[in-house]
Amino acid sequence: MIRGEQLSKSYGDVIALAPTDIHVREGKITAIMGGSGSGKTTLLRLLAGLEKPSSGHVWYGDEDLCSISDRRLYELRQSMGMLFQYSALLNSLNVYDNVAFPLHEHTDLDEEVIQTMVSMKLEQVGLRGFEHLMPSELSGGMAKRVAFARAMAMDPKIVFFDEPTSGLDPISSGVISTLIQNTARKNRMTSIVVTHDVSAGLTIADHVILLWQGRIIAEGTPDAIRDSDDARVQQFLEGRPDGPIPFSRSTTSYIDDLTHRPGTVRLET
Ligand SMILES: Nc1ncnc2c1ncn2[C@@H]1O[C@H](COP(=O)(O)OP(=O)(O)O)[C@@H](O)[C@H]1O
Ligand SMILES: [Mg+2]
Repeated sequence: MIRGEQLSKSYGDVIALAPTDIHVREGKITAIMGGSGSGKTTLLRLLAGLEKPSSGHVWYGDEDLCSISDRRLYELRQSMGMLFQYSALLNSLNVYDNVAFPLHEHTDLDEEVIQTMVSMKLEQVGLRGFEHLMPSELSGGMAKRVAFARAMAMDPKIVFFDEPTSGLDPISSGVISTLIQNTARKNRMTSIVVTHDVSAGLTIADHVILLWQGRIIAEGTPDAIRDSDDARVQQFLEGRPDGPIPFSRSTTSYIDDLTHRPGTVRLET
């Protein structure tokens, strides 16, 4: 249903994503994994139509997100849910208004109906009764759960999650992973989960895409990824700090930098 074709994105000299073909499985959970700076968020934002690619296409069926009208894009967005990195709750609104926000924005439903829908979403994440709390009064795990409820408010067909478990303790992280998995399975929701959390990604995904420096270096079922004999994949899975994926990405010699770079202190011998 969603396909990226030769999709790329550069910011000036930085190639955030090299031309990439990607096929998101309908009704399944696709995990986009990789280290920090590997291009995960960029790929997610391109697939969600939040950003224009430098080249290539994003196909939703036979429509190219990059060439449809703003109005059509707005329509499509109503069937998408987003959970952004850092939860991105609206700080001046309480839990109820945060979850109700998409419903107020996109529908003309009566407040009574909206109240029922918000209650259902909050029940699903175990936070019914917390409607009046402000974001500053929530723990990190609660904030993610509210963000999850908000992402689900419009019963989306497609949901994009950016680092849904980052910064959470193992139990809260497990809660969010289970929520994503159960909701995706029950509603046959197409889910795209960006994460650098190896165990969360491999546990919940049907299909895993592993990025490194803006390129896909491995793709397949979690089992296929675990069994991969690519040394870079194994380094990532084991969390080893150095290996084929180097610890330092500097291209110039450290000694040269220390001794010759203008503006740095010269070492006297
Ligand atoms: N708006 C931007 N402007 C400039 N560089 C960016 C921007 N967004 C991302 N990048 C760069 O693109 C690369 C990939 O970033 P990102 O997709 O955020 O990685 P990830 O989500 O895997 O950590 C990084 O080198 C990052 O610094
Ligand atoms: Mg990111």
